Amino acid sequence: MSTLLLRGRLLSFLTEPESIEDRASYRYEEDGGLLIRDGKIAAMGDFHLVSREAGRDVAVVDHRPHLILPGFIDTHAHFPQMQVIASYGTELLEWLNKYTFPEETRFANLQHGRRIARLFLDELIRQGTTTVVAYCSVHKESADAFFAEAESRDMLVVSGKVMMDRNAPDALTDTPQTSYDDTKELIARWHGRARGHYAITPRFAITSSPEQMEMAGALAAEHPDLHIQTHLSENHAEIAFTQELYPWSKDYTDIYEHYGLAGPKTLFGHSIHLSEREADALSDAGSIAVFCPTSNLFLGSGLFDYQRYRKRAKPLRISTATDVGGGTNYSMLRTMDEGYKIIALNGEKLNPLASFWQITLGNAKALSLEEKIGTLDIGTDADLVVLDAKATPAMRLRMERIETLAEELFLMQTMGDDRCVREVYVAGKRAKSELAG
Ligand code: GUN
Ligand code: ZN
Repeated sequence: MSTLLLRGRLLSFLTEPESIEDRASYRYEEDGGLLIRDGKIAAMGDFHLVSREAGRDVAVVDHRPHLILPGFIDTHAHFPQMQVIASYGTELLEWLNKYTFPEETRFANLQHGRRIARLFLDELIRQGTTTVVAYCSVHKESADAFFAEAESRDMLVVSGKVMMDRNAPDALTDTPQTSYDDTKELIARWHGRARGHYAITPRFAITSSPEQMEMAGALAAEHPDLHIQTHLSENHAEIAFTQELYPWSKDYTDIYEHYGLAGPKTLFGHSIHLSEREADALSDAGSIAVFCPTSNLFLGSGLFDYQRYRKRAKPLRISTATDVGGGTNYSMLRTMDEGYKIIALNGEKLNPLASFWQITLGNAKALSLEEKIGTLDIGTDADLVVLDAKATPAMRLRMERIETLAEELFLMQTMGDDRCVREVYVAGKRAKSELAG
């Protein structure tokens, strides 16, 4: 039995913070103790109390004066796009055809997939992200590579092979039947193994024929407990082309509804340009609209109206994500900084407590995984990030004027990145300091 006692400033959210003053929304222990036993949180509270409970022989790691939070959760990223990031000069459809699809053809090669999966998860750990919802390429080898790499680190991941059978190069298309068969095989191999969760992954309506959408719907009906991930309403040209391909549909969302793909475990990447009807439909279904700020800015896709979606009569469930490699940064801190600015352009503010709630408990709830990740609650998995708000000279200087926890968080969101991440624990084991180089 492995036991470890961490000491530091513990911060974990209880509910979504309503304002910067919402002290009841979080638990904060200035001199906190977090007892980890066999990869799970066994006790959390005042250091001296937890230390007494832990007994004398337990190893203590002292992270003071740093903050210890639940590890960050990224709810939408493409692991095969590590070498697509920073591709110049295009909007979504041209970006896919010119850069992304050619790059993804390389993932037919299992060795290539293994290398990139390893480097991708290394990078996420470096940034404090302990759970990712990731798209693989169309090739089942890419999913094998990704899940195996996550298993070797005991990371909780949600992922799936992309289903796509048209409007892409031949080397990147499957068929309705092979996409069904490969997905079935991968679910049997990876879902529920170690900490793996399989997500049924039709890329988007443009790259799936109606026959393939039916197959995706059949998979969803056969596996109602699985996540589904796809893209929705990201870009105006994408929306227009989708309407041409499915002329009978009321709107883009209607297509996914029609095929039985809109449910409480469906993650709709982007969801920027939704009509009121579409937003109502997502709300009724309990589906998730995934906010991908750096990607939405980089590809010029549009300004996701986070506060309107949250405050409408039928509110949306929202998560946040990097969307690497349309997104430009692996860091959830950088992501929320850009998110803050998009929300500001929409005439609203997102308070820093709500930001940190979103990338921990908020994203865990969006995934219906809050019983396992996203908090420091006893019995949950010990996925943690240790944060230093004085990570750079400029941040250290700014900290001289900072008086509250919310201000400290806002500074890390605004100026911070992987340099703020002093350590990461995955299932109770040190992960960042174990990385090579
Ligand atoms: N829509 C369909 N595929 C993709 C993708 O890989 N990235 C983004 N941003 N949008 C998509
Ligand atoms: Zn995406």
